[in-house]
Order: sequence, then C-alpha cells, then structure tokens
Amino acid sequence: MSSDYLATFSNMARIAKQHLVRMLRIAMSCLLVSACSGLTIKTDNSESFPWSKMRLPTNVVPNHYDLSIHPNLTTMNFTGTVKISVDVKQDISYIVLHSKGLEITMAKILADGMEQDMTVLEHHPHEQIALLPPHQLQGQRKYQLYIEFQADLADGFDGFYKSTYRTQNGYKRVLAATDFEPTAARMAFPCFDEPLFKSTFSIKIRRERRHIALSNMPKMQTVEHEDGLVEDTFDKSVKMSTYLVAYVIGDFRSISATTSTGVKISVYAVPEKWSQTHYALEVAVKLLEFFEAYFNISYPLPKQDLIAIPDFQGGAMENWGLITYRETALLYDPQMSSATDKLWITKVIGHELAHQQWFGNLVTMEWWNDIWLNEGFARYMERLSVNSTYPELQVDDYFSNVCFGAMAKDCLNSSRPISNPAETPVQIMEMFDTVSYTQGACVLNMLRDFLSEEVFQSGIIRYLEKYSYSNARSADLWNTIANASSEREFSTGGFCYTSSQAEKRAHQYTCDSLDLREMMDTWTQQMGIPLITVNRTGHNIHIQQERFLKGVLDDDADYATLQSGYQWHIPLTYYTSSSRHVHRHLLKSKTDTIQLEGDVSWIKFNVDMNGYYIVHYGEEGWEALTQLLDQDHTAISSKDRTNLIHNALQLVSTGKLSLDRALNLTHYLKKETDNIPLLQGISYLNVVYRLMERKNNTDTAENLKKYILWYFKDVIDKQTWSDTGSVSERRLRSELLELACDLGYTPCVSRASQIFNEWVASNGTRSLPTDILRPVFLTGAQDEENWNYLLEAYKNSLYSSYKSKILYALTNCKDAERLAKLIDLGMEGEVIRTQDLPSLIVTISRNPAGQALAWNFVRQNWQKLLERFHVGSSSFRGILKGTTGHFSTKSELEEVKTFFDSLKSQGLQLKVTELVLEMIQKNIRWLERNLHVLNKWLSENIPLAPAVFL
Ligand code: BES
Ligand code: ZN
Repeated sequence: MSSDYLATFSNMARIAKQHLVRMLRIAMSCLLVSACSGLTIKTDNSESFPWSKMRLPTNVVPNHYDLSIHPNLTTMNFTGTVKISVDVKQDISYIVLHSKGLEITMAKILADGMEQDMTVLEHHPHEQIALLPPHQLQGQRKYQLYIEFQADLADGFDGFYKSTYRTQNGYKRVLAATDFEPTAARMAFPCFDEPLFKSTFSIKIRRERRHIALSNMPKMQTVEHEDGLVEDTFDKSVKMSTYLVAYVIGDFRSISATTSTGVKISVYAVPEKWSQTHYALEVAVKLLEFFEAYFNISYPLPKQDLIAIPDFQGGAMENWGLITYRETALLYDPQMSSATDKLWITKVIGHELAHQQWFGNLVTMEWWNDIWLNEGFARYMERLSVNSTYPELQVDDYFSNVCFGAMAKDCLNSSRPISNPAETPVQIMEMFDTVSYTQGACVLNMLRDFLSEEVFQSGIIRYLEKYSYSNARSADLWNTIANASSEREFSTGGFCYTSSQAEKRAHQYTCDSLDLREMMDTWTQQMGIPLITVNRTGHNIHIQQERFLKGVLDDDADYATLQSGYQWHIPLTYYTSSSRHVHRHLLKSKTDTIQLEGDVSWIKFNVDMNGYYIVHYGEEGWEALTQLLDQDHTAISSKDRTNLIHNALQLVSTGKLSLDRALNLTHYLKKETDNIPLLQGISYLNVVYRLMERKNNTDTAENLKKYILWYFKDVIDKQTWSDTGSVSERRLRSELLELACDLGYTPCVSRASQIFNEWVASNGTRSLPTDILRPVFLTGAQDEENWNYLLEAYKNSLYSSYKSKILYALTNCKDAERLAKLIDLGMEGEVIRTQDLPSLIVTISRNPAGQALAWNFVRQNWQKLLERFHVGSSSFRGILKGTTGHFSTKSELEEVKTFFDSLKSQGLQLKVTELVLEMIQKNIRWLERNLHVLNKWLSENIPLAPAVFL
C-alpha cells in the first residue's frame, strides 16, 4: 500500500469517526431538547452545532434554486419549498446555510434518484442551519437539497414583509414584498446568503386571482389550482447573489414602454396612484438606454420593473429586474411635486439602474467590506447619468455638496476607511453609510479627473467585462483600470507619460512611477481627508500634507498620535492669477515644492473641487483670495468659490484660520449671483444660527438672524412666489423663502400667510406653486387651527412628496403638545406611516421646541424602536445622530454617554454612538473657542437694522 493511500484511508477513518461522534452528540442534545419530534431538532447549543463561524463554509456551493412561495394575505403568513442544487467540493457530513425565523418542516437530500431525510440543527446567533444527511456526502459530486418551510410575513421592512394601505374609500388593502439586502433573504427562504454564492433562481408564486405577482424575471405561465388559487411561474434568472432576489404580491397597476434595445420597462403603483407613474417611465427608459451605451454592455433581462411599495424603509432597492421604491422616490405629479422632488426621483432611478446591469448586480463585491464598489459607483453614476440625460436638472451643481457631506464625517476620528471589515449583520448594515456611498463617489470622481474621462470609462468597462456574473475586490478594480489605462496610454498620449515625455511636461506623471493600486489604497484602505498647506516664497510653492481633523489643534496632546502614519497619494490640481490653465502635480510625499513659471498674485488649488482634500493657503494666501473674491469673484469658477467658502470655514475648527477671517471671505456673497456658492454660504450661517437658537443663546441668535436677513435681503426680495425659472433658480427660491419665513422675515411671513389663507379659503382646491409649498405650509402651521387643517390635508392626500412637505411643516410648529401628537401618530403607524417615523423624529429634534421631546422619546422608547427598525440601518443611525448630534454642552454630553453606556450593557455596540459623542465634543469645543469671536464679528458687521428684520 502506498503511503498516499494510507493517508487517505486514515483520513477517511478520521472523518467517519468525527461524523459518528457528531451524530451521537446530536442524538444526546436531541434527548435533552424536547422539540425533537419529526425531523427538526432545534438547538441553540453551539456545542452541538457543527460550524462555529459567521461566514459559511465554502465546501458546498449552490448553483440553482427552485423556489415556490405561497403567501397568504389573509392569515399573513407564507409557506414555501426550495430545491437547491449544490456542488459538494469535498467529503462532508453536514451542510451549513442561512435561515432566520423560518420554521423548517422538512429537509431531504436528493442524489442518484434517491431521497433521504436530513436532520436539521439551528443556530440562531449566526442565523444558520446545519443539514445532516444520514450518510457522508462525497466530494466533487452534485446533490439537491429539498426543504419545506413556513413563517409569518415579517412586521418590519426586511425579508418577506407585509405592507398595507387604505384606498380613498377607506378600504384596507394588503400586499407582501421582499427587501433582502444585505442579509435578509434568509428570512424568506433557506439559502446560502452571502454575495459570493451566485446562483440562478426559478421562482413560482401562488396567489389569489385578485392580486398580481411580480418577480425578477418575466412570468412564463399561470396555472389554476383546485383551491381557487393560481400559481405564476417566472423564467429562470441569470446568475446572481441572493440579496437581489425579489417578489411582490398585491394589487398594482402599471404602465409600460420598450427601450430602443427591446427591454420592456414597467412602472407599478397602487391603483389610485397609477397616474403618477409617467415621469418615472420616461426616465427609466432614457437612463437604461444611456447605461447600455455608456458601458457598451446590454441589460441582460427581457424586462425591468420599477414598483412603488407603500411601506419601504429606505429609498429604493436594486433587485434585478424588479426595483422596489419608496413612493416618494418614484411617483411624480407635475402639479404636486417640486423641482427638488423631480431631481431626487431622477437620481434615485439613475442610482438603481446603475446597479442593475453594472455595479452590484453584474459585478458584485466579494464581501460586504467592499460594499462601496456597489454604492460608491452607483452614487457616482447618479450624477453622470442624470447630467447626460437631463442636463436641465443641473445635477452637477450639487456634487460639491455631496462631497462636503462625506467630509463632514470623514474629518472625525470615529470615521472609517472606505473598505472596512464587517462580519455580523449589524456591522454589515453599518457599512451602508456616507463613507461607502458619498466618499466612495467623491474618490472615484477624483480618479476620473486624474485619469481623464476616456481612460476612466474604458477602465471601468474592462472591469465590468472581466468580472461579469462574478465577484471582485477593490484591488481588482484598480488593477483592471491600471492595465486598461497603460495600454491605452502610450498609444494615445493620455494622462501619464514615458519618462522622456514627462520631462518635457513637468506637471505630468511618468507611467513607470505611477502605481494606481498603491495610490488608490491610500484612499480606500485608510480613513480621513488630507489637508494640504500651501506656502509661497517667491516662485516656489511649498506644499505639505497632513490629516485634516475637525476640532483638533496643532498643540493638542493627541495631535501627533492622531496624525501618525497617515499619508496619501494626492493628485493635486491648481491654477493661478496668470492663467486658467490647470496644472497637475501628484503629491506622494509629506512635503514637496512646485516651481511657478512667473509672478502670480493668487493660486487656487483643487480645481472645481474635483479632489478629495482641503486646502489651507496660509494667512497671506487667504488674504489674497479674499481680496480676489471682493474685487473680481468671477475670475474663479463658481465651484471654486464654493470650495473656498467650505475650506475656510472648515479650517476654523482646527484653529488654523480664525472665524472672523473665514467670515470675511463670505463678505463677497452680497455680489454673488450664482446659486451654489450663495446657498453654501447662507447654509453655513444658518447652521451656526441653529446652534445658537437651540442653545437659547438669544443675543447671538438674534444678531445672526438679523445679519442673514439684512445681508441677503436683496436676493430674498428678488424671489417670486411661482414655479418659474431653471431648476437651480427654483431650488434657490425654495430654500431662500423657506429660510426667510422660518427666520420670521416680515415680508416673507405676510406673503406666505396670505397664500396659505387663500388656499384654506378655497378648501385646499387652489393649486399652489410647488416650490413655495414648504414656506407657505411652514408659516401656516404656526397657528393651531391651521395646523389641524394641514393634518387633515395630510391624511387625505394621495401625493407622497406633497404629504412629506406638509409633515415637515407640521414638525416646525412651536407647540410641544402638537409635536408630541405627531410622534404618537408616528408610533401608531396609521396616519403617519412607520416608515416616516425616523425622519419625523429627526425633524422634530431640529426644532428647538421639540429637541428635548425627541431625545426623551428615543430614550424611553428604545425597545419599541428596535422592534421596528434594523439596529444597524441608516434609519436607526439617523434617529440617534439626529436627536443628539447637535448637542453642545457638557451636561448633554454626559446624558448621552450615560445612555450609550446602558446600551453597551445590553450588548449593543454601534459605531454611530462613537461618532455622535465625538460630534458633541467638537461642538462644545467650537463654541468655547469661537463664540466670543462670532459675537464681536457680528457687532462689527451688523448696521442698525430696520425694524422689518426683527
Ligand atoms: N442597495 C441600496 C439599498 C440598501 C440600502 C440596502 C441600505 C441595504 C442597506 C440601494 O441601491 C440604495 O442605495 N438605496 C438608497 C437610495 C439611493 C438613491 C441612494 C436608500 O435606500 O437609501
Ligand atoms: Zn445603491
């Protein structure tokens, strides 16, 4: 006998022995647990469960699921069967897969025409089951697992859940829908619920005749059953991850159109909202055609459905072929939806379609640590696709603001790298945050600017082609883009140069010194934003990089520790007073020097804010830029002006620029006619105002209010109370009028009240310009009778985005009792849907009259909130951040700490708690350091204001 054979033999004997021991252990635990009748052995005893890890073993790989589901919309539960074809890679005695909250009623294994019962073990903490066949399974063979199961339709918004609504005649209607990402497919059927296990799916749904059923693929046939029910069979899907499976059963009506490439697109809504589906259909057709052309990859399914679900926790979900939406993210009515609503709907459709056949569905991240590959790309594509197809929506204008949002989180020490380990369902859910979405998109935008649009596009096309129907990591993306670009490079003379070429163009990069993966790892594997400090001596610009940390001063004790080890490869861009030519310089080291070609009076770095970094120009540099803005602000682009305002105000918190100097830079805004910098400047002042208002810091708040209204009077007065103008003019109007009315500017309040009263007099029939709905309702809602009138209008309206404006106004009243009534309604979930409770709590908390109410509510109803929302979800995180993140006193900090400590003792470890505590600490510090400066600056800058502002 060869030694190999002996080794194999002894190995087999060992495995057989292990199997026997395991079976005995199971039998023992079966004796101990009384629920061992029939096939299922229930146990939470991790001792007897054969697998101890959260991630599934890779020795069994699914490749097809035959799934039959029968939801009962009267008893609100469902039964199902699933046959999973698997490849067994090596000899095994058990199969581990996911199942959560399902009662397994039968499990068999099928091979060679034989079927045998399997024992089922459950391990709740890991949401797993183990199937134990009577004999060992052999490696390199195919088997089929057959499982029967049942469960109640879920109460929340995950898994296979129920949703209800009332018709205008008051009849209650019920429907059932799925929402699986990231880890909820296991609540609907037993499955290998990890993104790497891609399979095909054949789905059957049994339903009542009065309903329709939809799934990822088109319906192939419907057969009648004796029980009066019918069963729809859907076509076999393409290979995909479990989180993309979907089905919806209920009463819906749709409209359809076909794209030029033959894909049938349909938009579904509940019957009474059917008339609001037209805009979404037009957008979906246009955008799908755009993506097919841009990526040069056809959408592979014959159909694409977009459906508005009355109860939906997030904004939308990209199930392949059946995208589900919150009603406000899909339904549009020209009379009722504003310019902002239109832009939002268009962007959400663009985002989800970008996932459909490209980032996420076709190429999926290997694991959730790289979810940014889905979400960062989809966010990036929102802008790109909408910009090309609907230029009139001016989506591009708002991209800087998107990146400011990312920076607001990433400037804190409690941020995280874009790629980040995540194991448990809560940690995985926490990955769907600003960092994955927005920072991901901003970093991609910087890369595109660095490589050029053509090179970037061809790189991502190559990546999509290479990893189609499979999975990838961040490194795969960088390597593919690098290969695509270097091939293209030398033939076209693109973004980098051979050494000799580069010598001639000092600012360009040499290809041999450029390691794209190394460069991009500095952006995705390490957290934080770089701060570039620029110092000029003669023709030399000295540049230096460090980590930008909000509220940390150079002489703080922890400064050095917080900085240690941080370094980026930063593609800098700049232009100067002497020419608008964009210079480029790749900064890899801590410090560097750039030579200027001639004399210049100013330099602007980070051209159009395409880079993800903050720039400090030093005292003199800021002085020169302030002068430039005062004298000739159009010498730099409006994006650059916005970027300067942002950078200056950010630097205040680090002590590198004083608040009065930063505010002086905003002085030029009186002349500003472009909406983007104007809104950026005003919104910053408004943020500070809100901080003062909430603190009851009456004098400063009043002075700041006076300053804002006096300083921006001309532009406020210029606004008309109509819907005319470009999208960006319309958005400026909405925001300015809302702000002015909210700050009590008399002309605004009188006009809004007049319109409100006329609207009430017409019994709500008079149609109002959509852009002014918020200021008008907000003003009306201050009076109790009007507030009640608005609440009735809210109850009766069929238009979700209109309703959300009414609700926003209702949350703005100054009466705590009425605010408490709203929270009660939100908890009841009838008039105000549970899906709207998180934003309701957050907006109430922004209102000084409601902040204590909201915070107390969260603490007292913590358990109830936990029952309604997934603890790692953005809704849940939003509630915590929204009710505490604005606090700015030490006693508030202590209160929040005490509460968070109590959560820890319940075993809850949430990243957002760390973030919130840091935010509060930074607010405290900002006020300590800047309040007196602000007061002084205001006293010097407010003239004697006429009474109209008071
Ligand atoms: N894939 C997500 C849905 C999702 C979000 C699943 C969080 C699991 C956790 C979808 O593509 C998405 O990003 N939806 C956004 C709306 C979108 C336009 C930004 C959402 O639901 O907030
Ligand atoms: Zn997404």
